[in-house]
Amino acid sequence: MKPLQTGFPADFLWGGAIAANQAEGAYEADGKGLSIADCFPHGIKHGADIPPKEGTFYPSHQAIDFYHHYKEDLALMQEMGFKVFRTSINWSRIFPNGDDAQPNEKGLQFYDDLFDEMLRRGMQPLVTLSHYETPLHLVEAYGSWRSRKLIDFFLRYCEVVFRRYKDKVKYWLTFNEINNMRRMPGAAGGIFFREGENHQQAVYQASHHMFVANSLAIKLCHEIIPDAKIGCMLSLSNTYPHTCRPEDVFETMELRRRSLLFGDVMIRGAYPAYMTRIWDEEKVHVEMEPGDEEILKQYTSDFLGFSYYRTSTHEYGQPFCGDTGGDQGTPNPYLETTPWGWQIDPLGLRYTLNELYDRWQIPLFVVENGLGQVDVPDEKGEIHDDYRTDYLRRHLQALKDAIRDGVEVMGYTYWGPIDIVSAGTGEMKKRYGFVYVDRDNEGHGTMARRKKDSFAYYAHVIATNGAEL
Ligand code: BG6
Repeated sequence: MKPLQTGFPADFLWGGAIAANQAEGAYEADGKGLSIADCFPHGIKHGADIPPKEGTFYPSHQAIDFYHHYKEDLALMQEMGFKVFRTSINWSRIFPNGDDAQPNEKGLQFYDDLFDEMLRRGMQPLVTLSHYETPLHLVEAYGSWRSRKLIDFFLRYCEVVFRRYKDKVKYWLTFNEINNMRRMPGAAGGIFFREGENHQQAVYQASHHMFVANSLAIKLCHEIIPDAKIGCMLSLSNTYPHTCRPEDVFETMELRRRSLLFGDVMIRGAYPAYMTRIWDEEKVHVEMEPGDEEILKQYTSDFLGFSYYRTSTHEYGQPFCGDTGGDQGTPNPYLETTPWGWQIDPLGLRYTLNELYDRWQIPLFVVENGLGQVDVPDEKGEIHDDYRTDYLRRHLQALKDAIRDGVEVMGYTYWGPIDIVSAGTGEMKKRYGFVYVDRDNEGHGTMARRKKDSFAYYAHVIATNGAEL
Protein backbone atom coordinates (compact mmCIF):
# COMPACT_ATOMS: atom_id res chain seq x y z
CA MET A 1 0.00 0.00 0.00
CA LYS A 2 1.07 3.53 -0.74
CA PRO A 3 1.65 5.57 2.46
CA LEU A 4 -0.86 8.35 3.14
CA GLN A 5 0.39 11.60 1.58
CA THR A 6 -0.89 14.47 3.69
CA GLY A 7 0.76 17.43 1.99
CA PHE A 8 2.49 18.54 -1.18
CA PRO A 9 5.57 16.45 -2.04
CA ALA A 10 8.93 18.13 -1.30
CA ASP A 11 9.79 18.36 -5.01
CA PHE A 12 6.37 19.74 -6.04
CA LEU A 13 6.73 22.06 -9.03
CA TRP A 14 5.04 25.35 -8.13
CA GLY A 15 4.82 27.99 -10.80
CA GLY A 16 2.87 29.70 -13.53
CA ALA A 17 2.02 29.30 -17.20
CA ILE A 18 1.65 31.51 -20.25
CA ALA A 19 1.72 30.99 -24.02
CA ALA A 20 4.09 32.73 -26.40
CA ASN A 21 1.33 34.16 -28.59
CA GLN A 22 -0.61 35.67 -25.69
CA ALA A 23 2.38 37.35 -24.07
CA GLU A 24 5.36 37.94 -26.32
CA GLY A 25 3.93 40.34 -28.90
CA ALA A 26 6.73 41.21 -31.36
CA TYR A 27 4.73 39.21 -33.87
CA GLU A 28 7.04 39.93 -36.78
CA ALA A 29 10.32 40.51 -34.95
CA ASP A 30 13.60 38.88 -35.88
CA GLY A 31 12.31 36.86 -38.79
CA LYS A 32 9.20 35.41 -37.16
CA GLY A 33 6.55 34.20 -39.61
CA LEU A 34 2.81 34.42 -39.01
CA SER A 35 1.06 31.74 -37.01
CA ILE A 36 -2.67 31.09 -36.79
CA ALA A 37 -2.68 32.81 -33.38
CA ASP A 38 -1.86 36.06 -35.20
CA CYS A 39 -5.13 35.90 -37.14
CA PHE A 40 -7.81 36.31 -34.45
CA PRO A 41 -8.89 39.92 -33.77
CA HIS A 42 -11.38 38.89 -31.06
CA GLY A 43 -9.88 35.67 -29.74
CA ILE A 44 -10.18 32.06 -30.82
CA LYS A 45 -13.86 31.80 -29.84
CA HIS A 46 -14.52 34.09 -32.78
CA GLY A 47 -13.52 34.13 -36.42
CA ALA A 48 -10.04 34.29 -37.93
CA ASP A 49 -8.76 36.54 -40.72
CA ILE A 50 -6.61 34.46 -42.97
CA PRO A 51 -4.34 36.25 -43.59
CA PRO A 52 -4.57 39.13 -41.05
CA LYS A 53 -6.08 42.31 -42.48
CA GLU A 54 -4.30 45.61 -42.83
CA GLY A 55 -5.84 48.23 -40.49
CA THR A 56 -7.43 45.70 -38.10
CA PHE A 57 -6.29 45.66 -34.47
CA TYR A 58 -5.00 42.28 -33.28
CA PRO A 59 -4.35 42.51 -29.51
CA SER A 60 -1.86 39.65 -29.54
CA HIS A 61 0.43 41.34 -32.05
CA GLN A 62 1.87 43.44 -29.23
CA ALA A 63 0.34 41.56 -26.28
CA ILE A 64 2.32 42.51 -23.13
CA ASP A 65 5.60 42.65 -25.06
CA PHE A 66 7.06 39.82 -22.99
CA TYR A 67 9.57 39.52 -25.85
CA HIS A 68 11.30 42.64 -24.54
CA HIS A 69 10.16 42.54 -20.89
CA TYR A 70 10.86 38.92 -19.97
CA LYS A 71 13.77 39.70 -17.65
CA GLU A 72 11.68 42.06 -15.55
CA ASP A 73 8.75 39.62 -15.61
CA LEU A 74 10.78 36.59 -14.63
CA ALA A 75 12.32 38.58 -11.77
CA LEU A 76 8.79 39.00 -10.41
CA MET A 77 8.09 35.28 -10.81
CA GLN A 78 11.32 34.54 -8.95
CA GLU A 79 10.17 36.82 -6.15
CA MET A 80 7.13 34.57 -5.78
CA GLY A 81 9.48 31.59 -5.55
CA PHE A 82 8.50 29.85 -8.80
CA LYS A 83 10.17 26.48 -9.33
CA VAL A 84 8.83 26.13 -12.86
CA PHE A 85 7.66 28.44 -15.61
CA ARG A 86 5.55 27.18 -18.46
CA THR A 87 5.56 28.89 -21.82
CA SER A 88 5.49 27.79 -25.44
CA ILE A 89 8.01 28.10 -28.19
CA ASN A 90 6.25 29.91 -30.98
CA TRP A 91 6.82 27.45 -33.82
CA SER A 92 6.76 30.29 -36.38
CA ARG A 93 9.74 32.01 -34.72
CA ILE A 94 11.80 28.89 -35.41
CA PHE A 95 10.34 27.88 -38.79
CA PRO A 96 8.65 31.05 -40.10
CA ASN A 97 6.74 29.14 -42.78
CA GLY A 98 6.72 25.75 -41.12
CA ASP A 99 8.19 24.00 -44.17
CA ASP A 100 11.50 25.90 -44.33
CA ALA A 101 14.63 23.80 -44.77
CA GLN A 102 16.58 25.73 -42.16
CA PRO A 103 15.50 27.21 -38.81
CA ASN A 104 15.63 30.90 -38.00
CA GLU A 105 18.68 31.48 -35.81
CA LYS A 106 17.32 34.65 -34.24
CA GLY A 107 14.23 32.83 -33.05
CA LEU A 108 16.35 30.06 -31.56
CA GLN A 109 18.55 32.63 -29.84
CA PHE A 110 15.55 34.31 -28.22
CA TYR A 111 14.49 31.08 -26.50
CA ASP A 112 18.09 30.33 -25.53
CA ASP A 113 18.17 33.65 -23.71
CA LEU A 114 14.72 33.12 -22.22
CA PHE A 115 15.50 29.64 -20.86
CA ASP A 116 18.87 30.83 -19.52
CA GLU A 117 17.09 33.60 -17.66
CA MET A 118 14.59 31.13 -16.16
CA LEU A 119 17.35 28.78 -15.04
CA ARG A 120 19.39 31.64 -13.60
CA ARG A 121 16.32 32.54 -11.54
CA GLY A 122 15.78 29.01 -10.26
CA MET A 123 12.91 28.00 -12.57
CA GLN A 124 12.70 24.89 -14.69
CA PRO A 125 11.22 25.67 -18.10
CA LEU A 126 8.12 23.64 -18.96
CA VAL A 127 7.78 24.06 -22.70
CA THR A 128 4.72 23.58 -24.90
CA LEU A 129 5.75 22.79 -28.46
CA SER A 130 2.53 24.00 -30.03
CA HIS A 131 0.13 26.30 -28.21
CA TYR A 132 -2.29 27.29 -30.99
CA GLU A 133 0.75 28.44 -32.99
CA THR A 134 0.74 26.41 -36.21
CA PRO A 135 2.58 28.46 -38.86
CA LEU A 136 0.00 30.12 -41.10
CA HIS A 137 1.73 29.00 -44.28
CA LEU A 138 1.06 25.37 -43.34
CA VAL A 139 -2.64 26.18 -43.13
CA GLU A 140 -2.71 27.99 -46.47
CA ALA A 141 -0.49 25.66 -48.46
CA TYR A 142 -1.32 22.24 -47.00
CA GLY A 143 -4.69 22.54 -45.25
CA SER A 144 -2.80 22.20 -41.97
CA TRP A 145 -3.02 18.86 -40.10
CA ARG A 146 -5.41 17.43 -42.71
CA SER A 147 -2.16 16.69 -44.51
CA ARG A 148 0.17 13.93 -43.33
CA LYS A 149 3.09 16.13 -44.41
CA LEU A 150 2.58 18.15 -41.21
CA ILE A 151 3.97 15.23 -39.23
CA ASP A 152 7.38 15.67 -40.86
CA PHE A 153 7.35 19.46 -40.52
CA PHE A 154 6.47 19.17 -36.84
CA LEU A 155 9.16 16.57 -36.21
CA ARG A 156 11.76 18.69 -37.99
CA TYR A 157 10.88 21.52 -35.64
CA CYS A 158 10.92 19.20 -32.60
CA GLU A 159 14.32 17.83 -33.49
CA VAL A 160 15.80 21.31 -33.83
CA VAL A 161 14.49 22.50 -30.46
CA PHE A 162 15.23 19.23 -28.62
CA ARG A 163 18.86 19.36 -29.80
CA ARG A 164 19.24 23.06 -29.15
CA TYR A 165 17.73 23.10 -25.64
CA LYS A 166 18.59 19.59 -24.44
CA ASP A 167 20.66 20.88 -21.54
CA LYS A 168 18.10 23.51 -20.54
CA VAL A 169 14.63 22.05 -20.90
CA LYS A 170 13.65 18.81 -19.13
CA TYR A 171 9.86 19.15 -19.18
CA TRP A 172 7.95 19.25 -22.46
CA LEU A 173 4.33 19.23 -23.61
CA THR A 174 3.35 18.48 -27.21
CA PHE A 175 0.03 20.09 -28.29
CA ASN A 176 -1.80 22.46 -25.97
CA GLU A 177 -5.35 21.28 -25.28
CA ILE A 178 -5.30 18.88 -28.22
CA ASN A 179 -8.91 17.89 -27.48
CA ASN A 180 -9.92 21.40 -28.51
CA MET A 181 -9.69 19.94 -32.01
CA ARG A 182 -13.35 19.25 -31.34
CA ARG A 183 -14.39 22.62 -29.89
CA MET A 184 -12.03 25.04 -31.66
CA PRO A 185 -10.21 23.20 -34.46
CA GLY A 186 -8.99 26.44 -36.04
CA ALA A 187 -6.85 27.31 -33.05
CA ALA A 188 -6.01 23.79 -31.96
CA GLY A 189 -4.94 22.46 -35.34
CA GLY A 190 -5.33 25.10 -38.02
CA ILE A 191 -8.50 23.41 -39.32
CA PHE A 192 -10.86 25.92 -40.92
CA PHE A 193 -13.71 24.06 -42.57
CA ARG A 194 -14.17 24.02 -46.32
CA GLU A 195 -17.54 24.28 -47.98
CA GLY A 196 -19.35 20.96 -48.05
CA GLU A 197 -16.72 19.24 -45.94
CA ASN A 198 -17.67 16.66 -43.29
CA HIS A 199 -16.39 18.56 -40.25
CA GLN A 200 -15.92 15.48 -38.14
CA GLN A 201 -13.92 13.81 -40.88
CA ALA A 202 -11.52 16.77 -41.01
CA VAL A 203 -11.23 16.91 -37.22
CA TYR A 204 -10.53 13.22 -36.69
CA GLN A 205 -8.18 12.87 -39.66
CA ALA A 206 -6.16 15.88 -38.52
CA SER A 207 -6.20 14.60 -34.93
CA HIS A 208 -4.87 11.26 -36.10
CA HIS A 209 -1.91 12.97 -37.77
CA MET A 210 -1.32 14.92 -34.56
CA PHE A 211 -1.41 11.69 -32.54
CA VAL A 212 1.25 10.11 -34.73
CA ALA A 213 3.30 13.32 -34.52
CA ASN A 214 2.86 13.28 -30.73
CA SER A 215 4.15 9.71 -30.45
CA LEU A 216 7.10 10.33 -32.73
CA ALA A 217 7.96 13.51 -30.84
CA ILE A 218 8.01 11.45 -27.62
CA LYS A 219 10.38 8.97 -29.28
CA LEU A 220 12.65 11.77 -30.48
CA CYS A 221 12.62 13.54 -27.14
CA HIS A 222 13.65 10.40 -25.26
CA GLU A 223 16.43 9.71 -27.76
CA ILE A 224 17.84 13.24 -27.69
CA ILE A 225 17.19 14.13 -24.02
CA PRO A 226 17.11 10.84 -22.09
CA ASP A 227 16.46 12.58 -18.75
CA ALA A 228 13.50 14.62 -20.04
CA LYS A 229 9.80 14.02 -19.40
CA ILE A 230 7.33 14.73 -22.16
CA GLY A 231 3.60 14.89 -21.60
CA CYS A 232 0.41 15.48 -23.50
CA MET A 233 -1.91 18.36 -22.65
CA LEU A 234 -5.72 18.33 -22.58
CA SER A 235 -8.47 20.74 -21.62
CA LEU A 236 -10.27 18.79 -18.87
CA SER A 237 -12.59 21.16 -17.05
CA ASN A 238 -15.49 18.91 -16.19
CA THR A 239 -19.21 18.49 -16.86
CA TYR A 240 -21.82 17.00 -14.54
CA PRO A 241 -25.16 15.55 -15.63
CA HIS A 242 -27.72 18.31 -15.11
CA THR A 243 -30.07 15.87 -13.36
CA CYS A 244 -30.06 12.20 -12.37
CA ARG A 245 -32.26 11.43 -15.38
CA PRO A 246 -30.46 8.48 -17.01
CA GLU A 247 -30.43 10.22 -20.42
CA ASP A 248 -28.61 13.21 -18.90
CA VAL A 249 -26.12 10.91 -17.20
CA PHE A 250 -25.41 8.76 -20.23
CA GLU A 251 -25.03 11.65 -22.61
CA THR A 252 -22.71 13.47 -20.19
CA MET A 253 -20.48 10.40 -20.31
CA GLU A 254 -20.63 10.54 -24.11
CA LEU A 255 -19.57 14.18 -24.02
CA ARG A 256 -16.67 13.48 -21.67
CA ARG A 257 -15.54 10.61 -23.88
CA ARG A 258 -15.06 13.10 -26.74
CA SER A 259 -12.22 14.53 -24.64
CA LEU A 260 -10.93 11.44 -22.87
CA LEU A 261 -10.37 9.64 -26.16
CA PHE A 262 -7.46 12.00 -26.78
CA GLY A 263 -5.85 10.86 -23.54
CA ASP A 264 -6.60 7.22 -24.31
CA VAL A 265 -4.67 7.43 -27.56
CA MET A 266 -1.69 9.34 -26.14
CA ILE A 267 -1.48 7.68 -22.71
CA ARG A 268 -2.94 4.21 -23.19
CA GLY A 269 -1.64 4.06 -26.74
CA ALA A 270 -4.81 3.06 -28.55
CA TYR A 271 -8.15 4.43 -29.67
CA PRO A 272 -10.90 3.44 -27.23
CA ALA A 273 -13.37 0.78 -28.42
CA TYR A 274 -16.30 3.22 -28.61
CA MET A 275 -14.61 5.23 -31.40
CA THR A 276 -15.65 2.69 -34.01
CA ARG A 277 -19.29 3.42 -33.29
CA ILE A 278 -18.77 7.19 -33.14
CA TRP A 279 -16.96 7.22 -36.47
CA ASP A 280 -19.68 5.07 -37.97
CA GLU A 281 -22.36 7.49 -36.77
CA GLU A 282 -20.41 10.53 -37.98
CA LYS A 283 -19.54 8.91 -41.34
CA VAL A 284 -15.85 9.30 -40.61
CA HIS A 285 -13.16 7.20 -42.18
CA VAL A 286 -9.72 7.95 -40.82
CA GLU A 287 -6.88 7.08 -43.17
CA MET A 288 -4.09 5.36 -41.26
CA GLU A 289 -0.81 4.05 -42.58
CA PRO A 290 0.47 0.59 -41.75
CA GLY A 291 2.50 0.92 -38.58
CA ASP A 292 0.57 3.90 -37.16
CA GLU A 293 -1.15 1.83 -34.48
CA GLU A 294 2.17 0.33 -33.37
CA ILE A 295 3.70 3.82 -33.13
CA LEU A 296 0.82 4.99 -30.95
CA LYS A 297 1.16 1.93 -28.74
CA GLN A 298 4.92 2.19 -28.36
CA TYR A 299 5.49 5.86 -27.59
CA THR A 300 3.13 7.15 -24.94
CA SER A 301 3.15 10.22 -22.70
CA ASP A 302 5.23 10.32 -19.52
CA PHE A 303 2.64 12.45 -17.76
CA LEU A 304 -0.66 14.19 -18.37
CA GLY A 305 -0.74 17.98 -18.24
CA PHE A 306 -4.20 19.47 -18.19
CA SER A 307 -6.13 22.67 -17.74
CA TYR A 308 -9.00 22.94 -15.29
CA TYR A 309 -11.00 26.15 -14.89
CA ARG A 310 -14.62 25.32 -14.18
CA THR A 311 -17.46 22.86 -14.43
CA SER A 312 -20.74 23.01 -16.28
CA THR A 313 -23.73 20.68 -16.60
CA HIS A 314 -25.15 18.83 -19.55
CA GLU A 315 -28.77 18.10 -20.43
CA TYR A 316 -29.85 15.40 -22.83
CA GLY A 317 -30.13 16.74 -26.36
CA GLN A 318 -27.91 19.79 -25.87
CA PRO A 319 -25.26 20.31 -28.53
CA PHE A 320 -21.68 19.54 -27.46
CA CYS A 321 -19.89 22.87 -27.45
CA GLY A 322 -17.53 24.95 -25.35
CA ASP A 323 -14.67 27.42 -25.33
CA THR A 324 -11.23 27.90 -23.78
CA GLY A 325 -12.66 27.05 -20.34
CA GLY A 326 -14.03 23.65 -21.41
CA ASP A 327 -17.46 22.29 -22.33
CA GLN A 328 -20.38 24.61 -21.69
CA GLY A 329 -23.95 23.47 -21.14
CA THR A 330 -26.52 24.58 -18.56
CA PRO A 331 -25.40 26.69 -15.55
CA ASN A 332 -25.16 24.90 -12.22
CA PRO A 333 -27.37 26.58 -9.58
CA TYR A 334 -24.96 25.62 -6.80
CA LEU A 335 -21.97 27.52 -8.16
CA GLU A 336 -20.92 31.15 -8.50
CA THR A 337 -20.14 32.50 -11.96
CA THR A 338 -17.51 34.90 -13.31
CA PRO A 339 -18.43 37.76 -15.68
CA TRP A 340 -17.42 35.45 -18.54
CA GLY A 341 -19.92 32.79 -17.46
CA TRP A 342 -17.31 30.42 -16.03
CA GLN A 343 -18.52 28.65 -12.90
CA ILE A 344 -16.12 28.30 -10.01
CA ASP A 345 -15.89 24.75 -8.65
CA PRO A 346 -12.86 23.82 -6.51
CA LEU A 347 -14.32 20.41 -5.56
CA GLY A 348 -14.60 19.75 -9.28
CA LEU A 349 -10.80 19.87 -9.44
CA ARG A 350 -10.50 17.14 -6.80
CA TYR A 351 -13.15 15.14 -8.65
CA THR A 352 -11.30 15.56 -11.95
CA LEU A 353 -7.88 14.66 -10.54
CA ASN A 354 -9.36 11.46 -9.13
CA GLU A 355 -11.21 10.67 -12.36
CA LEU A 356 -8.03 11.04 -14.45
CA TYR A 357 -5.74 9.15 -12.11
CA ASP A 358 -8.25 6.31 -11.82
CA ARG A 359 -8.34 6.06 -15.60
CA TRP A 360 -4.66 6.31 -16.50
CA GLN A 361 -2.49 5.98 -13.35
CA ILE A 362 0.26 8.24 -14.63
CA PRO A 363 1.56 11.43 -12.96
CA LEU A 364 -0.69 14.44 -13.44
CA PHE A 365 0.39 18.05 -13.78
CA VAL A 366 -2.16 20.87 -13.40
CA VAL A 367 -0.63 23.13 -16.03
CA GLU A 368 -3.50 25.65 -16.15
CA ASN A 369 -5.93 26.85 -13.52
CA GLY A 370 -6.80 30.40 -12.62
CA LEU A 371 -9.37 33.14 -12.36
CA GLY A 372 -10.04 35.64 -15.16
CA GLN A 373 -11.65 38.71 -13.61
CA VAL A 374 -12.05 42.46 -14.05
CA ASP A 375 -9.43 44.13 -11.85
CA VAL A 376 -9.95 47.77 -11.01
CA PRO A 377 -7.00 49.64 -9.47
CA ASP A 378 -8.02 51.91 -6.55
CA GLU A 379 -7.04 55.59 -6.26
CA LYS A 380 -3.52 54.58 -5.15
CA GLY A 381 -3.23 52.22 -8.09
CA GLU A 382 -3.46 49.14 -5.87
CA ILE A 383 -5.41 46.04 -6.82
CA HIS A 384 -7.15 44.25 -3.97
CA ASP A 385 -8.01 40.98 -5.69
CA ASP A 386 -9.28 38.96 -2.73
CA TYR A 387 -11.52 37.04 -5.15
CA ARG A 388 -8.40 35.69 -6.86
CA THR A 389 -6.74 34.71 -3.59
CA ASP A 390 -9.93 32.97 -2.59
CA TYR A 391 -10.15 31.07 -5.91
CA LEU A 392 -6.55 29.98 -5.57
CA ARG A 393 -6.81 28.95 -1.93
CA ARG A 394 -9.87 26.79 -2.56
CA HIS A 395 -8.41 25.12 -5.63
CA LEU A 396 -5.11 24.42 -3.90
CA GLN A 397 -6.98 22.90 -0.97
CA ALA A 398 -8.83 20.65 -3.44
CA LEU A 399 -5.50 19.69 -5.00
CA LYS A 400 -4.07 18.87 -1.59
CA ASP A 401 -7.14 16.75 -0.84
CA ALA A 402 -6.64 14.87 -4.12
CA ILE A 403 -3.02 14.17 -3.17
CA ARG A 404 -4.36 12.70 0.08
CA ASP A 405 -6.74 10.63 -2.04
CA GLY A 406 -3.61 9.06 -3.52
CA VAL A 407 -3.39 11.00 -6.79
CA GLU A 408 0.15 11.59 -8.00
CA VAL A 409 0.55 15.28 -8.91
CA MET A 410 3.87 16.65 -10.19
CA GLY A 411 3.09 20.33 -10.02
CA TYR A 412 0.79 23.26 -10.45
CA THR A 413 1.29 26.15 -12.86
CA TYR A 414 -1.27 28.91 -12.31
CA TRP A 415 -2.54 30.29 -15.61
CA GLY A 416 -1.47 33.82 -16.43
CA PRO A 417 0.59 34.80 -13.34
CA ILE A 418 1.04 38.08 -15.17
CA ASP A 419 -1.87 39.60 -17.13
CA ILE A 420 -1.81 38.53 -20.78
CA VAL A 421 -4.19 38.65 -23.73
CA SER A 422 -7.16 36.29 -23.35
CA ALA A 423 -7.01 33.42 -25.83
CA GLY A 424 -10.78 33.07 -26.00
CA THR A 425 -11.81 36.68 -26.48
CA GLY A 426 -8.65 38.66 -27.23
CA GLU A 427 -9.34 40.95 -24.27
CA MET A 428 -6.85 42.39 -21.80
CA LYS A 429 -9.79 43.11 -19.51
CA LYS A 430 -10.01 39.42 -18.60
CA ARG A 431 -7.09 39.37 -16.21
CA TYR A 432 -5.62 36.37 -14.40
CA GLY A 433 -2.38 37.84 -13.09
CA PHE A 434 -0.76 38.30 -9.73
CA VAL A 435 0.98 41.07 -11.65
CA TYR A 436 -1.08 43.78 -13.34
CA VAL A 437 -0.05 45.06 -16.76
CA ASP A 438 -1.13 48.56 -17.70
CA ARG A 439 -2.66 47.87 -21.08
CA ASP A 440 -6.30 47.86 -22.15
CA ASN A 441 -8.45 46.17 -24.78
CA GLU A 442 -7.66 48.83 -27.36
CA GLY A 443 -3.92 48.56 -26.80
CA HIS A 444 -3.55 51.73 -24.72
CA GLY A 445 -1.41 51.89 -21.59
CA THR A 446 2.18 52.19 -20.41
CA MET A 447 2.85 48.42 -20.15
CA ALA A 448 4.02 49.07 -16.57
CA ARG A 449 3.89 46.06 -14.27
CA ARG A 450 2.43 46.24 -10.73
CA LYS A 451 1.89 43.59 -8.06
CA LYS A 452 -1.66 42.80 -6.99
CA ASP A 453 -2.51 41.64 -3.43
CA SER A 454 -2.64 38.01 -4.60
CA PHE A 455 1.10 38.19 -5.38
CA ALA A 456 2.08 37.99 -1.70
CA TYR A 457 -0.43 35.20 -1.08
CA TYR A 458 0.97 32.91 -3.77
CA ALA A 459 4.54 33.69 -2.66
CA HIS A 460 3.57 32.58 0.86
CA VAL A 461 1.95 29.39 -0.39
CA ILE A 462 5.09 28.45 -2.28
CA ALA A 463 7.37 29.39 0.61
CA THR A 464 5.46 27.00 2.91
CA ASN A 465 5.18 24.32 0.17
CA GLY A 466 1.42 24.57 0.49
CA ALA A 467 1.38 23.85 4.21
CA GLU A 468 -0.31 27.22 4.80
CA LEU A 469 -3.11 27.92 2.37
C1 BG6 B 1 -6.84 27.59 -22.14
C2 BG6 B 1 -5.72 27.97 -23.08
O1 BG6 B 1 -7.85 27.10 -22.92
O2 BG6 B 1 -7.46 28.58 -21.41
C3 BG6 B 1 -5.08 29.31 -22.80
O3 BG6 B 1 -4.73 26.96 -23.12
C4 BG6 B 1 -6.13 30.30 -22.37
O4 BG6 B 1 -4.37 29.69 -23.94
C5 BG6 B 1 -6.80 29.79 -21.10
O5 BG6 B 1 -5.66 31.60 -22.20
C6 BG6 B 1 -7.82 30.73 -20.51
O6 BG6 B 1 -8.75 31.10 -21.48
P1 BG6 B 1 -9.06 32.61 -21.80
O7 BG6 B 1 -10.01 32.57 -22.95
O8 BG6 B 1 -9.67 33.16 -20.57
O9 BG6 B 1 -7.76 33.27 -22.13
